[in-house]
Amino acid sequence: MIVIAIDGPAGAGKGTLARRLADHYRLNLLDTGLTYRAVAYALLQHALPLDNVSAAETAARQVDLAKLDRAMLSAHAVGEAASKVAVYPTVRRILVEKQRDFAKTPPGAVLDGRDIGTVVCPDADIKLYVTASAEVRAQRRLAEIESIGGSANFSEILADIVRRDERDMGRADSPLKPADDAHLLDTSEMAIEAAFLAAKTIIDDALAKRDKA
Ligand code: DC
Repeated sequence: MIVIAIDGPAGAGKGTLARRLADHYRLNLLDTGLTYRAVAYALLQHALPLDNVSAAETAARQVDLAKLDRAMLSAHAVGEAASKVAVYPTVRRILVEKQRDFAKTPPGAVLDGRDIGTVVCPDADIKLYVTASAEVRAQRRLAEIESIGGSANFSEILADIVRRDERDMGRADSPLKPADDAHLLDTSEMAIEAAFLAAKTIIDDALAKRDKA
């Protein structure tokens, strides 16, 4: 069993990195952000306010990890709404339980999110905290939007990212922060391949030490 925990702010590249690592080590993969997005999506779809905690709890109970539809949940507004429903401890508890069950399933998993190393899988074999400066993350998001023919304003994207960071880092329950034993990976000046190789070196070292112990 191997469990790899990846945390970091929105847009730092942890999703792509998690997918590369899950492929490489042949592990299950869970983007835990999708679970919070699924709850937000259910509320938005029924035109319910995002602070309707009991509706959010019901939606959280109904989340099926095998049926998370990335395309349906990818809208920027859904991410914003997810960050708002993610402040409620009862909603988090329901989702965290499902995430832990997923992590326990052989042969193990890569999970990415905000609280994987600190709360969901505190005993993970390897914890990575992936960051990049807010400016770099905003630049990447702008390039992504432009690559699909869209247009956006850099300073609005940047303000959005800063606001999301503040909400995710500032909440009382399970705020985004590196676990004490996390390896920090700053991808501000790294392409995805370099980030993958850096992560692989950290993981191979940790696994070699674990297997020797
Ligand atoms: O990674 P993402 O953008 O899909 O996440 C959307 C929101 O969900 C994020 O802003 C905060 C919340 N989230 C969380 O609180 N804990 C997680 N483990 C994953 C996401």
